[in-house]
Amino acid sequence: MCARDLATTHGDRLSERGPDAILVQMTTAQSLVGLDEILAARERIAGRVHRTPLLSSATASRFLREAGGPRLAGDRLYVKAEHLQKTGSFKARGMTNRIATLDADQRARGAITMSAGNAGQAYAWAGREAGVPVTVVMAAAANPTKVQACRDYGAEVVLEGSHVGEAFAALERIRAERGLTFVHPFEDAAVIAGHGSVGLEILEDLADVDVVVVGVGGGGLISGVATALKEQRPGVRVYGVEPSGAPAMTVAFAAGEPVPINPVTVADGLAAPFAGALTLAMCRRYLDGLYELDDATILAGVRFGIDRMKQVLEPAGAAALAAVLFGRIPIRDGERVAVLASGGNIDTARIGELIAAAEPLPTSLGGGRRDD
Ligand SMILES: Cc1ncc(COP(=O)(O)O)c(C=O)c1O
Repeated sequence: MCARDLATTHGDRLSERGPDAILVQMTTAQSLVGLDEILAARERIAGRVHRTPLLSSATASRFLREAGGPRLAGDRLYVKAEHLQKTGSFKARGMTNRIATLDADQRARGAITMSAGNAGQAYAWAGREAGVPVTVVMAAAANPTKVQACRDYGAEVVLEGSHVGEAFAALERIRAERGLTFVHPFEDAAVIAGHGSVGLEILEDLADVDVVVVGVGGGGLISGVATALKEQRPGVRVYGVEPSGAPAMTVAFAAGEPVPINPVTVADGLAAPFAGALTLAMCRRYLDGLYELDDATILAGVRFGIDRMKQVLEPAGAAALAAVLFGRIPIRDGERVAVLASGGNIDTARIGELIAAAEPLPTSLGGGRRDD
């Protein structure tokens, strides 16, 4: 079936609401992204981003069984290591692809984006690689590690607004003043297509995968990954995980259109102020389920990554792992399961504090040892 028929006009309906003018601009409906666009994006970004490894954890599988959960195929949980990607998150893929779509005039004037961090970092980096000046607008309370990283990649960072939603107003003002091209953190076909290359790689490394679990913010990542997987292997089940304090996609599913939320979560990478119309349409087409996790459970994923896998994941990057570890994803005995470790840009000064706030792991699986 052709996925493109399902593009929505939710952006038009939203435009009838006066106060949501900025939101409208961010959610104009577009055609759903197809496998052909993902394959083309992969070619375009090849050699510019890493082909990341697929790690695995036997301890995660044992954890699940000891908690009364299913036995995973091969007694392992597979972990796609996008925290080892350039810029520390999968975003380097989609943002490299998006910057490549700018024409000569747009490249010369520069691009502007809004981001709690990882999208800004990736656009800053991709812009520098392509010789395109990038401005990143962030809420004043943004993660300082991510702010600094954007500056280190050469971007101009503007800190304005008390939360992500307010920062959009600043962005619109600066964009108009300077004639910059707005490049979206998630609601964009080129971004989604670039992210979809993660799904292609998962299938290359694990052709018989049954279940893939992905953290959801605005929905760009899971839209691309789910398309890449399901257009090649329709039987694969794809589940999304959102923080219970930032359920933008769950709320959009219920309403049938993007709805602004006020996100409150430790997983700043998943704290999107709304899902997109395009990402909502793609998620409706391809997702098998969406699950919410509280912050303490998400942080247990961060702790498991460090304690047992010796991998540094940020909370957003550990949400999918945590959801499987705590038995929140419907998995049947003998299934082959992969989670996406989507980012590792944690504020290192806060790691101890974050781990102390984590839901405890069973003592038999506590810290100190290396995974087997
Ligand atoms: C580490 C990490 N994981 C997942 C996501 C979610 O991606 P999306 O907003 O495309 O759903 C983000 C977004 O910033 C992120 O930074």
